[in-house]
Formats: sequence, structure tokens, C-alpha cells
Amino acid sequence: MARNMKSSTCTAPVNIAVIKYWGKRDEELILPTNSSLSVTLGQDQLRAKTTVAIDPSFTEDRMWLNGKEQSMKSARLRNVLREIRNKVRKRKADDETLSWKVHICSENNFPTAAGLASSAAGYACLVFTLSKLFHVDGDISSIARQGSGSACRSVYGGFVKWVMGTQKDGADSIAVQVAPASHWPELRTLILVVSDQKKHTSSTEGMQTTVNTSQLFPRRLLGMEEKMEQMEKSINEKDFHSFAELTMKDSNQLHSVCLDTYPPISYMKDVSHQIVRMVHCLNSICERNIVAYTFDAGPNACLYLLEKDVPRVLSLVTTFFPPKDNNMEKFIQGLPVDVLPPSQG
Ligand code: DP6
Repeated sequence: MARNMKSSTCTAPVNIAVIKYWGKRDEELILPTNSSLSVTLGQDQLRAKTTVAIDPSFTEDRMWLNGKEQSMKSARLRNVLREIRNKVRKRKADDETLSWKVHICSENNFPTAAGLASSAAGYACLVFTLSKLFHVDGDISSIARQGSGSACRSVYGGFVKWVMGTQKDGADSIAVQVAPASHWPELRTLILVVSDQKKHTSSTEGMQTTVNTSQLFPRRLLGMEEKMEQMEKSINEKDFHSFAELTMKDSNQLHSVCLDTYPPISYMKDVSHQIVRMVHCLNSICERNIVAYTFDAGPNACLYLLEKDVPRVLSLVTTFFPPKDNNMEKFIQGLPVDVLPPSQG
């Protein structure tokens, strides 16, 4: 290792929104058209891991993702680096590390770009690692936001809201923890991997087409602040029935505005719709919501449920959706079904 080299390694978990972000009012600064709220998952399973090294002998900024070198042309990547360096400059204008180039090495332990919030964990992890390496204090969620909107929520553990903010420069568009994971430790997440293929329409592209073409989209925006308040209340009161209803309705509405987009976007597959049916069937037999589904920009389902109901739901899932290849080891290792407690961060 070179004498001056400094490096730092961190991990960041995925977050899955229960009130979803879909639409930007400023594409450059990544400012959303609505506030959103998510649960940050446990560190052990779906997570990004990033090492950043700085050294005076490095001649250019470089980045590798899952072992493959990436182009540094990405405006988002450069914006994030610029924001971190600006913070360092504010602290000490002649800090010697300002001129040092970075080498970034990042890996996800789950499929990238398959609607499993890989960019959220990835950018949260990158910004967090950079902040440790360059000793940047204070809120870093607004920097993570400039990498990928949903990344700002992975900066914190537990239940996290991204306040849309009103300022033009985005200074008040930040993530805030609503409650730590310890507030509701019985809550569990089951990820059902319907497909690990890369999605056909990225969230970035999809949401902008929705903003530009969907007639239902302005109607969705009208109800968002009320939904946020109701969701916060259901989390504070640990009211699973209403948490589940709000979660499922928001997911359904998001996918409706996607279908109302022109040309239409459909992220869910037949199996995704079968999962929706299974959940409603089970909830109706139980005469209350014991499980909720939510889908991001992909076909994979994220189920929220309470610990006591995991065996019941898991046995239904494995009966109706047996793993495609009967590789017992792979199944036991955790895919296609993972049980994840929320993050303690
Ligand atoms: C459906 O954060 O990936 O997962 O800001 O353009 O990078 P960009 O989009 P991204 O969108 C996430 C959309 C979502 C909903 C959510 O996580 O709130």
C-alpha cells in the first residue's frame, strides 16, 4: 500500500418504500414531487459494500461495480464527489486531500437493477464511505439524494421519511428518521424474487415519462401528504392493519399511474399479480391484514408482516410459488425468499 493511501470500507442496506417516491420536480438536483417513507432492511442480507481509497499517486477518479470498471462520466457520480469535496473545502480550503483522486470499489450481494433498490443502497453506501474518509459531518442524506433519490433514505436505519422540501436549491429535501427499528422489532420483510433480470425501463426514465404523460399522476400527488401523515401514525401506533392497507394501496396506485403513462409501463408480471391475489385471499380469511405487498420498479414482491405470522405466510408462499430450480442448498441459503428484520442503524 502506498505510504499516503487512506481507505475506508462501509456497508449500507436496501430500503423498501411503503409510500413511494415517483416523479421529480428538478431532475438535476433530484428533487421529488412528493414525500416518501420507507423501512430500511437489516444489514446482513440485501446490502451494498463499498471501499474508497484516496492516494496522491492516483491520476484519475475510477470506479468498479461488482468487479467491472464503470465510466466516471455519470453526472450523478460526479455530483456526489463534487458535493463531498465542497464540504471538505468549506471546512479547510487548502486540505491536501482535495486534489487526491478516488478509487471506488462497490459490490451488491443481490441482483443489480432488478427492482431491489440496488442504487439506493449503492449510493447511500458510497456517500457514507466518502463522508468517513473525508471526515464530513452533518446531514449527508442530501448528498446521497443527488446520487439516486431513494438512496437518501438508506442513510438512516428503521423507519425513514424523505421530506420533499420546498426550497429551490434542495437544502430542505432531506431524509429524517421517523422511528428506530427497535420501535417495532416484530416487523419482518419477505422478499419474493420473481425475476432477477435487469428491468426494461429504469425508475429514472419511467418516472419522468409518468410526470410528462400521465393524467392520473396529478391526482396521486393531491393525496400524498395525507397518506404520509396516516402512515406515520400507523407506524407510531404500531397499527399493522392500517400500515398494511396504506402500503398496498400506495403500491397499487404507483403501478396504476405507470399503466396510465404513455407508452405504458408495466413492471409487474403474472406471478406478481398472483402474489397480490394470495395476500388478499389470506387477509380476507383472517378478517384483518396480516401481510402487505409492495412492488418497486420491477416484478419482485416485498411482503411486510409480523414475526408471529412468518411461518403461516412462508408455508403459503412455498406451496404456491415453489422455487423454480429444485436446488435445496440455494433455497436454504436464502433465495428466493429472505426473512429480514429491519435495520438497527
Ligand atoms: C419505485 O431512487 O431509483 O423504488 O432518483 O431517478 O435514481 P432516481 O430513482 P430511484 O427511484 C425509486 C423508485 C421506487 C420508489 C421508492 O423507492 O420510493
